[in-house]
Amino acid sequence: MSKLMPLVSEGAGKINPLSVSDYIGVGGYQALKKAVGMTPEQVIGEVKKAKLLGRGGAAYPSGSKWEHLLHIPETPKYIVCNADEGEPGTFKDKLILGKLPLKLIEGITIAGFVFGAKAGYIYVRGEYRKIQKQLIQAIENAKKENYLGDNILGKGFNFDIHIISGAGAYVCGENSALLNSTEGKVGRPRIKPPHLAEVGLFLQPTLVNNVESLSSIPAIVLKGGDEFLKIGHPDSGGTKLICLSGHSAKTGVFEIPLGKVTIRDAIYDAEMGGGVKDGKKLKFFHLGGQSGPIGSPDQLDTVYSYTDLRKAGLGVGSGAIVVMDESVSIIEYLKGVTEFFIHESCGKCVPCREGNKQLYAILQKLSVPGAATENDLSNLRRLVTTMTAASFCGLGQTAAVALNTAWKLFKAEFEANVSKTAAAAA
Ligand SMILES: Cc1cc2nc3c(=O)[nH]c(=O)nc-3n(C[C@H](O)[C@H](O)[C@H](O)COP(=O)(O)O)c2cc1C
Ligand code: SF4
Repeated sequence: MSKLMPLVSEGAGKINPLSVSDYIGVGGYQALKKAVGMTPEQVIGEVKKAKLLGRGGAAYPSGSKWEHLLHIPETPKYIVCNADEGEPGTFKDKLILGKLPLKLIEGITIAGFVFGAKAGYIYVRGEYRKIQKQLIQAIENAKKENYLGDNILGKGFNFDIHIISGAGAYVCGENSALLNSTEGKVGRPRIKPPHLAEVGLFLQPTLVNNVESLSSIPAIVLKGGDEFLKIGHPDSGGTKLICLSGHSAKTGVFEIPLGKVTIRDAIYDAEMGGGVKDGKKLKFFHLGGQSGPIGSPDQLDTVYSYTDLRKAGLGVGSGAIVVMDESVSIIEYLKGVTEFFIHESCGKCVPCREGNKQLYAILQKLSVPGAATENDLSNLRRLVTTMTAASFCGLGQTAAVALNTAWKLFKAEFEANVSKTAAAAA
């Protein structure tokens, strides 16, 4: 029996992504029609029952986020979709944006209806140029069919969606930096609180949700929250789009039910990764992007759910699964990860701006026989603790997660090049 479960991605690749009638042919816009006959509280009730956890990486419960925003009296409210998709190894939002843009547009329109918003924004990764053009066309097509624009479905509800292009900065995926960038300011994170629900886009109450989260809303409204929950794990309903890359025999995006598939299934099942390329042995897998944890073959039987992965010291994050074979040096791999964070650090705070450079310098020493000392290893540990605790935003706070998890799994490799003479002298 197939372990895949196309729910959010249902219809992807089978229809013309820009055609409203094609989208309706695969069940599109039924949810919006249902939602406009419900009260905002009823829609949010279903999102809460569904236990949808935000698919952008932080896994914040969408139902609570929506409920909080509903109770804020200030208007206008804005809906912002995070389509920055800057996390390396992550290309699942691209699948929805490119192949099912109308599902995302429907999800955003339902959110617009719930919050009485007049405008929504999709902040799209700068590199997705073609997709940005397609999205503009899909929005126009939805307007022509009265699913967007003025007096939607004759219900007196007016709502429009605008496309904003990112410019290639990873930090702009952080929700407050994303709002600054959307406003035309420098894309650096804001201090929180105030929360974005209260003081968000143009300092107004704002909902920020990931592409996959918002594209799950039509299924939740149509099936009902209880049914959506049953598809997944009791703590987190529905499915997850996972992205296999690296030394995976097959790479791509696969949709799985949460809590019903293991990491081994994802990597080895013939319908998904199909094993490690060229029949090599698995050395480790990196989950959830560069900011996520590294896991070992011993953890392959962990069930892929937010709860099970967290208990195992792992995490879903963005849904990325980067497979690495036995030929890879963990130190060289971590140097690549750290280089990424040096490049992407916005420079606003010292622990991240300087900490990543210091981490890299120590990793560089660890890659040369006899160059590092025991002191370097203890400095590495101290840096990880400081950066995690003292960085201003999630980028710096999670930059050392991969290193921290790899340290526990590959201690011998970290220590292999440490000079014994220097250690004795120190
Ligand atoms: C450095 C950094 C980069 C991020 N990049 C993204 C991104 O590309 N896409 C995304 O949806 N969330 C990203 N996030 C998470 C967002 O801040 C936020 O949690 C998310 O958009 C909320 O939507 P959700 O609740 O639907 O997941 C990033 C966070 C950080 C700290
Ligand atoms: S942790 Fe600090 S330097 Fe790093 S991206 Fe965030 S604000 Fe910028």
